[in-house]
Amino acid sequence: MNTLTITQLMQLKSEHKKITAITAYDYSMACLVDAAGVDIILVGDSLGNVVQGEKSTLPVTMDQMIYHTQMVAKAARRAMVIGDMPFMSYQVSETQALHNAGRFLKETNATAVKLEGGVSVAPLIKAMTRIGIPVQAHIGLTPQSVHQMGGYRVQRDADRLLSDAQTVQDAGAFSVVLEGIPSDIAKQITRTLAIPTIGIGAGMHCDGQILVFHDMLGLNDRKLPKFVKQYDQLGKRIISAVEKYCEDVREKNFPEAKHCYE
Ligand code: KIV
Repeated sequence: MNTLTITQLMQLKSEHKKITAITAYDYSMACLVDAAGVDIILVGDSLGNVVQGEKSTLPVTMDQMIYHTQMVAKAARRAMVIGDMPFMSYQVSETQALHNAGRFLKETNATAVKLEGGVSVAPLIKAMTRIGIPVQAHIGLTPQSVHQMGGYRVQRDADRLLSDAQTVQDAGAFSVVLEGIPSDIAKQITRTLAIPTIGIGAGMHCDGQILVFHDMLGLNDRKLPKFVKQYDQLGKRIISAVEKYCEDVREKNFPEAKHCYE
């Protein structure tokens, strides 16, 4: 089966069908979300928070993103895989940005890259798309600018958000993530743009939604933002399964004869 194309994604928007997206960071996770029929798997630099235990996404490196995206892309049969460009992989120079974006396509089998920023990254989006690298933009609350924003804050400057959204579309982005913005602004952006908007903390009017795998499945105990819906408490279930295993070993209930070789 072929993975979802940009044309098919655009078609979902034109048919008013919602687009589903989830993050994943390794082969087994990606197999599961792909089997569930998700449209987009983003290998997000949020792996800094949920896989590496960092306080922000800032320490994540390009080599780490390549490593995780390779694992995820091997698993994807249907979903489009997007590799997230980490902090300082595209900010220094256009040459370095193109080189790093190209690595995702050359080394990982991802279809596209994502980068944070609006008007300020438009020249980079133009340069990448000109050489055949599809780009998903990311505006609003952009975690790589956490210090500049003074924390993880909802972004409310409607004029700026609309201008960022229009500019990244004009520069050639095939989609844009809207993070941490009021629903009415996200609605206006979604109506204005021809490309699909994928929301996270941006309300119900976006063309699609994305959540972080660990957050939606209750795999960690970090404080979750208001916009997260938890679909399970897998963390609790894993702890109780491992407790049961420890108890079995300690009580000599495992292994049983059926687990042993003759
Ligand atoms: O890094 C990430 O997972 C993201 C999504 C939350 C959009 O950027």
